[in-house]
Formats: sequence, C-alpha cells, structure tokens
Amino acid sequence: MTIHDREGTPVERKIIRFEHGSDSADKGEYRHFMLKEIYEQPRVIKATMEGRITDNRVLEQALGTDAANLLQDVNHVQIIACGTSYHAGMVARYWIEELAGVACSVEVASEFRYRKHVIQRDTLFLCISQSGETADTLAALRQAKQAGFRAALAICNVPGSSLVRESDLVIMTQAGPEIGVASTKAFTTQLTALLIFTLALARHNGLTEEREAEIVKAIHQLPGQVDQVLALDADIAEMSKAFMDKNHSLFLGRGSQFPVALEGALKLKEISYIHAEAYPAGELKHGPLALVDSEMPVVTVAPNNTLVEKLKSNLEEVRARGGELFVFADSAAGVKAEEGIHVMPLPSVHEITAPIVYTVPLQLLSYHVAVLKGTDVDQPRNLAKSVTVE
Ligand code: G6P
Repeated sequence: MTIHDREGTPVERKIIRFEHGSDSADKGEYRHFMLKEIYEQPRVIKATMEGRITDNRVLEQALGTDAANLLQDVNHVQIIACGTSYHAGMVARYWIEELAGVACSVEVASEFRYRKHVIQRDTLFLCISQSGETADTLAALRQAKQAGFRAALAICNVPGSSLVRESDLVIMTQAGPEIGVASTKAFTTQLTALLIFTLALARHNGLTEEREAEIVKAIHQLPGQVDQVLALDADIAEMSKAFMDKNHSLFLGRGSQFPVALEGALKLKEISYIHAEAYPAGELKHGPLALVDSEMPVVTVAPNNTLVEKLKSNLEEVRARGGELFVFADSAAGVKAEEGIHVMPLPSVHEITAPIVYTVPLQLLSYHVAVLKGTDVDQPRNLAKSVTVE
C-alpha cells in the first residue's frame, strides 16, 4: 500500500498497530455483535474505571496532567454530541448540575454548529463521540476552538481519531471496537467516564469526601449489577413478544432516567423499526396521553428514587386509558404487577449510577424484539455506524 499527498507525491506514514484482540471482530458464541457487546458491558465498564478511581476517590491526575488546573477554573460545561452519545450527555447534565453545582448545557452537534451561541466565561467544551469521526461533532469542536472556550475535552472510544487529536484533554472509554450499528457498550462506558469526570469537577466545587466515597463505591458495584440485569435476559426475551406486532410504543422516565428512556426508544426504533417515542413522564398529560390505548405499549424505568411516587401516578394515568405497561422497577419502588402491568424486577442501585444499570434491560428488550421481527440487528436499514459526512 502506498500513500500519496494532495500533489500525488508518495509519503511515509508511521505504522500504528491495532491493539484490540482479533476476538473483537468475531461474534464468538453470540448470534449478533449487538448481543455480544451488551454482554461485554460488565467487563468494559470495569476497564473504563480502572486506573481512574481508588476504593473511595477519583484519581484526578488519571484524567490528564492538566486536569486539576483546568477543572478548578470551569464555570460552565457545554456538551456536544449526536445520537446515543447525545443521550449520554443528557444524563451527564443531571450529574454535573447536581454533584458539581456547575451549569451545564447539552446540544446536538448539528444544531449547535448552525446557530449563534453565547459563550459564558470559563466554559469547558465537552464532545462525546464513540467514533471520534462524526462530522457534525467535529465541525462543532472546530468552531468552538475559534470561538474562545476555556478548553476542549473529548470522551471517545477510538484512540488516534480526529476528535482525540484535536482536543486539549481526552478521557478514553475502554469499550473496545463496537461493531453493531446500534450503540450499547459505548454508551454505558461513556456514562462511566462522564461520572468519573463529574466527580473530579465536583471536587473543586464543594463535593465532600464522604459523598465522593459513597459514589465511587457505587461505581465499583456497577459490573456486578449489570451482570444481575443480564441474568434477566430470558425473562426480557419473553416480555419482548408483546411488542412484535405493535407499530408504536412510548417510553417514560423522570429525572436522569428520562435520557435512559430516550436511549431505550432510540434502540427500539433503530433495530426493530417500531416507532418509539420517549417522554419525561410528567409531560404525558400535555399530549402523548391522547395516543394511549391497548395498542400502545408503554415502557417505563422506575428505580427507587425521590421521583418514584410521582412516576407511579403517571403510570396510573396510562392504566386508566387502557395502556399496557412494561415497568423495569426496583422491587423497593412498590410497583405491583397486575392486569396490564408487567413488572421486571431490577437490583437496588444507587440513585446516581441507576441510569447506567437501567439502560441495559432496554437494550435487551430492543434486541429481542428485533430478533423476533427478523430484522438485520447489526446493520439496520438506512443507518451507518459512523456518520462522517453531513
Ligand atoms: C450514528 C450511529 C449511532 C451513534 C451516532 C453518533 O448515528 O449509528 O449509534 O450514536 O452516530 O456517533 P459517535 O461515534 O459520534 O458517538
């Protein structure tokens, strides 16, 4: 192979060795890459936290030698991403504002790059991208560098990608190559990296050592909790039969579970081609309730948090209109299975890490619906893994 520059003159380029084992390009015992990648999550979440947290602290220097200097100046975080990575950014906004008390805005790159924006003082520009090659995200980053942000941080899964090369600070996710077009392990490792980043930022903004230790402990529990969810695979496959002949579905969540609902709906539409919409549960009464009838399955994520009672009254609104509910709930949340309410019991998890754990059953649900429908799970129609053109 020879490489030429623009003028056609042959040039030398350094050889970079592909370091992921050959098993990452092999489905192994799994029927699809997507299923294999869902099952890899306990391992890759662990790999993403490794070297970045101790038993009770975040190792700030592991985020880059300049991280401490930079983070103490940050006054505002502007997150930019597309698709699934955008949903990771939406979850991170809840964490950043709650734990660090730092204002955070999140926007899809294709919107951000084509509008005028007001840049607040000491804004950190944070791009999230699995591939590091998404055209809109890169264009937004290049604009931001001209516009005078404090610094650019990338959360990315591909070493040496354009995003990594062009950012000041980088936190690599350790998901390994993701082959399935529908993103799964890239998302949960992005969330893991974002939570670690949030704790580092929060430390400069009044987070107590006790609270940091409590959340770091919860991060350590993630691989085991995701394993517990994976053990529900057969039950979720059974549940998925109810979606096979449906044309529409609604996903509900509140607080940091709203982006989880968005991601669940995105997975279902990407691979099963069933129309799926996600709403913050409190918005139900402002429109989508009109759509609810027995033909509209309603999927809900219900960890046992401060919003669960409010969520339960939203579920009653659905039941009263004859909607069939599929609830992924902490058993302590008190959601009872009865006629028209199917409950999948999930492990009890810390409120902060719950979005990571509650994502996994929704991935499995979409996967099984798609398998039943016989779609091309790993390469859904009309979609591409990496969108490098506008
Ligand atoms: C495509 C993929 C999605 C992905 C999005 C953003 O649409 O199909 O799975 O979330 O691009 O990609 P990125 O590599 O920037 O995370």
